[in-house]
Amino acid sequence: MHGGIEHRFGVLFVCLGNICRSPMAEGAFRAAAQQRGLAVDVDSAGTASYHVGHQPDPRAIMVARDNGIDIAGQSARQLERDDFYRFGHIIALDRANLEAVRLKAPRDATASLAMLLDAVEGRRGEPVADPYYGDTAAFEAAWRVINIGVNAWVERLEREAGALRA
Ligand code: 4NP
Repeated sequence: MHGGIEHRFGVLFVCLGNICRSPMAEGAFRAAAQQRGLAVDVDSAGTASYHVGHQPDPRAIMVARDNGIDIAGQSARQLERDDFYRFGHIIALDRANLEAVRLKAPRDATASLAMLLDAVEGRRGEPVADPYYGDTAAFEAAWRVINIGVNAWVERLEREAGALRA
């Protein structure tokens, strides 16, 4: 660690395919956490298996790159049992995926489950719309709302880390 705030548990972002929304969330979160000196593991996964092993969608790579973040090295994987013990927070990008995560959760899971915008004042329960069948503008819109959610989570985890140290 480099003298920043350490948080014991990581965060896992989850969408359907793990090629559009959750890879953008992972990249945005990693950059925001690093910028603020918050040391926390971050990863992403899909509830579905269609795209396992695939690189993020080229449109997601492009919008992230336009915002100074490289997500091209990511590779899609499916949510697995261990994730419910490895991560402190499993953060779904929409309601259907939150429900899919809940259905997969072991009884003694230690992760807490939430949606990305739950951390944003006044936007609790709001989904991030799937841009997969949309155009570039849909990816740009997803990127903007994902960043609002990610920044709110970074702030929440900073408070949690502070409370753990206190
Ligand atoms: P994501 O988007 O869940 O944000 O990665 C999708 C990616 C692939 C599909 C649907 C949504 N698909 O149907 O293949």
